[in-house]
Amino acid sequence: MTAATQLRLEIPEQRQAQKAELHPDLNRAHVRFIGLGKTYNGQQGPVAALHGIDLAIQRGEVFGIIGRSGAGKSSLIRTINRLEQPSSGRVLIDQVDIGEFDEDRLVALRRRIGMIFQHFNLMSAKTVWQNVELPLKVAGVPKEKREQKVRELLELVGLEGKHKAYPAQLSGGQKQRVGIARALVHDPAILLCDEATSALDPETTQSILGLLREINQRLGLTIVLITHEMAVIRDICDRVVVLEHGRIVEQGPVWEVFGNPQHEVSKTLLAPLQHALPQELQSRLHAQPPKPDAAVVLRLQFTGSATDEPDLAALFSALGGRVRLLQGGVERIQGHALGQLLLAVTDSSSSAEELRQRAGQWAQQVEVLGYVV
Ligand SMILES: Nc1ncnc2c1ncn2[C@@H]1O[C@H](COP(=O)(O)OP(=O)(O)O)[C@@H](O)[C@H]1O
Ligand SMILES: [Mg+2]
Repeated sequence: MTAATQLRLEIPEQRQAQKAELHPDLNRAHVRFIGLGKTYNGQQGPVAALHGIDLAIQRGEVFGIIGRSGAGKSSLIRTINRLEQPSSGRVLIDQVDIGEFDEDRLVALRRRIGMIFQHFNLMSAKTVWQNVELPLKVAGVPKEKREQKVRELLELVGLEGKHKAYPAQLSGGQKQRVGIARALVHDPAILLCDEATSALDPETTQSILGLLREINQRLGLTIVLITHEMAVIRDICDRVVVLEHGRIVEQGPVWEVFGNPQHEVSKTLLAPLQHALPQELQSRLHAQPPKPDAAVVLRLQFTGSATDEPDLAALFSALGGRVRLLQGGVERIQGHALGQLLLAVTDSSSSAEELRQRAGQWAQQVEVLGYVV
């Protein structure tokens, strides 16, 4: 087991049951983009960052946005709190078009939407306490209420003992905890996270993800999250959208997109999570049978949609002959079993194509990779 798998957080069963099958219901969407476009006035002329984005984010879900650098992820998330003004189309929050909001309504809107960033954006000359308290002061919240709120939030994010510390005295994970506490001061309904764990080591990332999940569940917040770390999406998101050149190229429940990515970009982004064919095995593979009794190497993909856990006895008896396991593993995303098996099948009476078809009854995708002796 790799360190990365050991670190994986368990997703509570109840959450799986509640959320695994979330599908967008447009009339109840928390955030909805309709034909959204964004063009910047760049130094060398207009830069089209988003085109015709139609997307609905449900209340209480953790929604992931992925895509290559420059795909438009930050531009999209920043239209939710109007840090970016769309060039065309609309953004609805709770069915209300925020495009027509005046300054006062925008200030109120931004208080209902917290945001955390990769580089934390803390004030270095202020203590942890003061950093969290500042937005409350700006909003004119009375001292007593401020103190209660700051104390409550620092406890929630696990920084009780650090009230008087300055950002420079904190670890990256602790700084992001301050960022999270500060984002929650006005009891937001939505939390936006733009690469919030990208500056953190894997272990700290897991602890911050654990905190985000707790906030999502305890406070019922909708979380919209951008990350280039696919494991982050796998571990906490309910649904995911893939952007490329400012357009949506794929979206769906995480188990579906991760189990069977359709678009080239999704496949590329998800490649680090796939088990590659071991080098040693690759070098032994032949495109044609080198001997009459060579074994056929099959790659079986389970995407958890048709059969759940693979039934090995049934699979092996369907294949017949001698079946050896070369490599394999199954993991669970949102309660669905996803994984792959590499098998070497020796059966002189069947062709590779016959074996592929037989295995196809037990797996969502089967490929013949070649032959080994
Ligand atoms: N303020 C800006 N002025 C001009 N171009 C911008 C500005 N912000 C972003 N862009 C351009 O818009 C595109 C999308 O950027 P961004 O939303 O930051 O992508 P991502 O977050 O996916 O990396 C990129 O081509 C980027 O260079
Ligand atoms: Mg970005």
